[in-house]
Amino acid sequence: MAETRLSMPGLVGLKREGRRLVMLTCYDALFARLLEQAGIDLLLVGDSVNEVLAGRRSTLSATLDQMIYHAASVRRGTDRALVVVDLPFLAYQVSVEEAIRHAGRILAETDCHAVKLEGGRVMVPTVAALTARGIPVVAHLGLTPQSIHGLGGYRVQGRSPADAERLRADALALQEAGASAIVLELLPQGLAREISASLTIPTIGIGSGAGCDGQVLVLHDMLGLNEGFAPKFLRHYAELAGVVRDAAGRYADEVRAGEYPGPDHAFD
Ligand code: KIV
Repeated sequence: MAETRLSMPGLVGLKREGRRLVMLTCYDALFARLLEQAGIDLLLVGDSVNEVLAGRRSTLSATLDQMIYHAASVRRGTDRALVVVDLPFLAYQVSVEEAIRHAGRILAETDCHAVKLEGGRVMVPTVAALTARGIPVVAHLGLTPQSIHGLGGYRVQGRSPADAERLRADALALQEAGASAIVLELLPQGLAREISASLTIPTIGIGSGAGCDGQVLVLHDMLGLNEGFAPKFLRHYAELAGVVRDAAGRYADEVRAGEYPGPDHAFD
């Protein structure tokens, strides 16, 4: 179990020491407590909550209020882990002023530690403005789900030399602007390794191979709760869908058979 007290500025030192960062998505206090007890360093209140829990088809319709609700819940379940919250679509793309106001609301209303936003050099003024105001930022490059329609689907990014070069330059520019870390999603492993080696801030990979400084997965995917989703990069660390279905099925059978509640489950 990781016992180090973490801070956003301290992430650079952890990279220097060669310590791999462990991040999982989290959307509620109950799982936050369990993940912290398991020694997870960083909890990401991802806008994937909109797909995973709310059943929407993409992250695009996630709202600021929705993110604040889940972020505040996660934060109430944690003492040690760093909690990073996704700025939802259109909360930061319209203007730097709106980005400051919305990121500020997230930190003020949830007591979380950082915001995450998607995009490369176009986001440099926003990242610089947020960090200059004391709001730590995690950037996100590669497959950026809020641009899913522009990217034409969930596929590996940065395969062409021009795209790879753009991503290398984006990463350096975001570091220069003050980003605390960069999520690299669905990049070829060689490119992700190269970008990671070129930066002093840590990269946190998802579907980008072992050369990143840390890894993130969507909690419900790695717990085997999202049965239809099986990308190459995913490993199931449990098969909870079957566990939940079995438990609910046994409960239903026992209620129907008059076996639950038994004599021990009732009050006199
Ligand atoms: O919203 C999310 O869960 C994410 C991860 C996929 C990195 O951004």
